[in-house]
Amino acid sequence: MAALRTALHARLVQSLPFSTGSLRLSSSFKAADLSIERSTACKPKPDPSTLVFGKQFSDHMLTINWSEKSGWETPEIKPFQNLSLHPASSALHYSIELFEGMKAFRGVDNHVRLFRPMLNMERMHRSAERSCLPLFDKGELLSCINKLVEVDQEWVPYSQDASLYIRPTFIGTEPSLGVSRPGQAMLFVIVGPVGPYFTTGFFNPVSLLADPAFVRACKGGVGAYKMGGNYGPTIMVQTEAVKRGCQQVLWLYGEEEEITEVGTMNLFIYWTNEKGERELLTPPLDGIILPGVTRQSLLDLGRSWGDFKVTERTMSMKELLGALDAGRVLEVFGAGTACVVCPVGSILYKGKTYPIPTMQNGPDLTKRFHKELTDIQYGRKPSEWAPLVV
Ligand SMILES: Cc1ncc(COP(=O)(O)O)c(C=O)c1O
Repeated sequence: MAALRTALHARLVQSLPFSTGSLRLSSSFKAADLSIERSTACKPKPDPSTLVFGKQFSDHMLTINWSEKSGWETPEIKPFQNLSLHPASSALHYSIELFEGMKAFRGVDNHVRLFRPMLNMERMHRSAERSCLPLFDKGELLSCINKLVEVDQEWVPYSQDASLYIRPTFIGTEPSLGVSRPGQAMLFVIVGPVGPYFTTGFFNPVSLLADPAFVRACKGGVGAYKMGGNYGPTIMVQTEAVKRGCQQVLWLYGEEEEITEVGTMNLFIYWTNEKGERELLTPPLDGIILPGVTRQSLLDLGRSWGDFKVTERTMSMKELLGALDAGRVLEVFGAGTACVVCPVGSILYKGKTYPIPTMQNGPDLTKRFHKELTDIQYGRKPSEWAPLVV
């Protein structure tokens, strides 16, 4: 009987949105409970051609508070405003913070769409679990985000070169300096219009600094999670790249100098492999790579097209330089929500610049991916990857 009770209890625990570790019941907030306070002082919308990433914000935000004592409070959409935080809040001291990055697009039919938003919700849920922040129902959070985008729908640019960036954020607000799991937390979402990544309308290839002295993430660490603590320390390295005449960082890892990611993008190499096959290659999700939504989408598309081999495996700097030397590298590009795809033009490694022939090769595959994904995002091609918000 006792064993049966234990088994039933374990099943119940698994089925509820508990935090890992302790029996901390934090049943999710519900979108149906959303309260909406509309702003009475709406700001003028900026001209889409003047947008600078992350500097303009809409009129509203979503906030949802949680405490160990009372669980989740009801979600609120309210006028965009400053937060008031206790100075000992754990997010400020120990970086108990995570975020997501996604976009809403105004399509050719004037409907607003998201792009594979459940993948962001799943990644956010994994980051919350790893951060000891309370768990939540992913579908309910997505419904709350949909409502925020609907309330601020006029902020989704009337342009197929721009979009509304959505920044879900989750912070520990426990007012205590103890290094422990937070007993208070706040999940909030802010949104703002962003312009095209490539302002000229054409792909601009980026130059990369590959310096094995720096790592972005390490095995057993948290590189696979979108935590703020992964990003702050990269700014100094990015500054170093610019000092050395490069635009972004190619992150290397370990003795073999594995190539891992580019800036805040996943890395792809399209080449002719040792067997003479056309192959699209990207590093595997082995804990040091962020599982990008764009990365997953390119892998899914590449596999569905069946025109070339698609492989997730590590590649060392030595192997890449060997293939470059042999003329087998066709295109190297980064992939992420900000740019969709971003061609790589050169790599500075140990004092020598290695040109990458991405642009000389079209770049056919980079362009094909860009067209396919933007066609879906802007409703030019119907797809279940782009659910309607309004
Ligand atoms: C380190 C890192 N890699 C890759 C990506 C690309 O991910 P996504 O395609 O979901 O934007 C991002 C951006 O979120 C990132 O921060």
